[in-house]
Amino acid sequence: MNSTNIVLIGFMGSGKSTIAQAIHKYTRKQVLDSDLIIANNENSSILDIFRKNGESYFRKLEVEFCDFVSKNVTNAIISTGGGIPLSYNVKNMGIVFFLNLSFEMILKRLNKHSIKSRPLFANINEAQRLYDERLETYINAANFIIDAKQNIKSITQEIISKL
Ligand code: S3P
Repeated sequence: MNSTNIVLIGFMGSGKSTIAQAIHKYTRKQVLDSDLIIANNENSSILDIFRKNGESYFRKLEVEFCDFVSKNVTNAIISTGGGIPLSYNVKNMGIVFFLNLSFEMILKRLNKHSIKSRPLFANINEAQRLYDERLETYINAANFIIDAKQNIKSITQEIISKL
């Protein structure tokens, strides 16, 4: 297995954080989660960053995170916020896996808390519109498209088999 970063992309609730942790268990590669790092650096929740500073400020922080990873990080698993492929060429960070899951499945999987903590999920119809609008971008940004309906073990093994 080489030291190229594993970059996970996909819509909110597609399982990026869960799969990142599962890959970590197999590979011992470090996990960098863009939302967690941004929230930590700002000493604020993602919801509060959106509320206080606005979405464009958050997007700027995401691009800074990606630039940092591209220049300074190797041999890691990068779990990206769902909006990152819209504003950054994620292939700069490593080999990109799109966790592809239908909007219906995402809704089934997300609990109330997960929905509340995501500002762009405040309105389900709007979230569905965003999903439809972004699908092609995710597909084009990926080196590999992974069927995220599978169980965690199968998804993890499929990703590891491509490295
Ligand atoms: C967003 C996804 C969220 C978070 C923010 C915006 C998006 O991350 O970055 O709420 O634009 O899709 P997850 O994909 O981890 O939920």
